[in-house]
Amino acid sequence: MRVGLLLAAFPNNLLFKIWKKIMTQKILVLAGDGIGKEIVAEAIKVINVLKSDFALDVELEYGDIGGAAYDASGHPYPKETQEKAATADAILLGAVGGYEYENLPRKLRPERGLLAIRADLDLFSNLRPAILNETLADASSLRPEVVAGLDIMIVRELTGGIYFGQPRAIETDENGERFAYNTMVYKEPEIERIAHSSFKIAMQRNKRLCSVDKANVLEVSELWREVLERVAKEYPEVELSHMYVDNAAMQLVKEPKQFDVIVTGNLFGDILSDAAAMLTGSIGMLPSASLNADGMGMYEPIHGSAPDIAGQNIANPLATIMSVSMMLRYSLNNTELANKIDAAVEKVLAQGYRTADIFVEGTRLVGTDGMGDAVIAALQA
Ligand code: IPM
Ligand code: MG
Repeated sequence: MRVGLLLAAFPNNLLFKIWKKIMTQKILVLAGDGIGKEIVAEAIKVINVLKSDFALDVELEYGDIGGAAYDASGHPYPKETQEKAATADAILLGAVGGYEYENLPRKLRPERGLLAIRADLDLFSNLRPAILNETLADASSLRPEVVAGLDIMIVRELTGGIYFGQPRAIETDENGERFAYNTMVYKEPEIERIAHSSFKIAMQRNKRLCSVDKANVLEVSELWREVLERVAKEYPEVELSHMYVDNAAMQLVKEPKQFDVIVTGNLFGDILSDAAAMLTGSIGMLPSASLNADGMGMYEPIHGSAPDIAGQNIANPLATIMSVSMMLRYSLNNTELANKIDAAVEKVLAQGYRTADIFVEGTRLVGTDGMGDAVIAALQA
């Protein structure tokens, strides 16, 4: 252990990386609220099969976040969770939020827990793939030929921009009228690091990067564009383009296959990633990774806690299961098992298993647990 601590002082040290590889890695599981608990339960079943049948060497630890944490300890991101997160190699998160928390003071709301853990661990690079599984082309609201073969990666800056910018407040002026404001701010180094993240991802894909901003109106976007152009010089193979966010929203639903990698700020990324998700038929299909500079990551489905369908065993667990695949790929250096999960998910879809959100006539309707069981059967086949 002492050796580990000593080596940990040099995070870029090769020895440290080897040390981490031979140590049992710790995954912190934060199920959260609503359907979070049900979908995470299925992902845990999958992890346990990877442990028992495929020699995955991980240890699970559990903690509270969001409304569940507020109920248990009065805060959406309690100290205890913070401490567990600090020593985890990766985090699996379900979802946060629920009707019963909507009237809490803003700083105690479940969403604050999510924003706090993102900021606390400096998870600035949020990868949100939108991939259309071939068998689901009919579930998309767009014509199959518009979306068939879709494979976009949205890289969303996650710890800056208007979500965190100061000052922010709701105040009352001298006439007794209330006013409110937020600040969209990016520091140059924040833009630089997300730019590097996105160029690196573009290098592993089709080498086309589209940066989305609102540079015709916002100074913050002007700086964003300038920094992107500068960083681009270090990646001469990548073709960089720029697009205004309103146009990007339109192009995503008009001709989505024109995109390879999209990089954008926190707020625009939040909006565009929901739109991109829907192109794939269901927001219940999309995983995400939020990474810091050391490759430590938090993995979560991009959908929310869906309190309207919570507890009914109808939520789609595939986004969470595929989040485990992303975790294996980006934090645990286990591409082999990541590919196995992805293949198992493809297989169950090809076999016709569908949760309600992706069900079409002629397929096999299953519940949340049924879908988890089908993935496990496919893994073990
Ligand atoms: C997301 C969610 C969160 C966000 C909410 C729950 C705070 O919409 O992860 O996209 O806005 O980032
Ligand atoms: Mg969102």
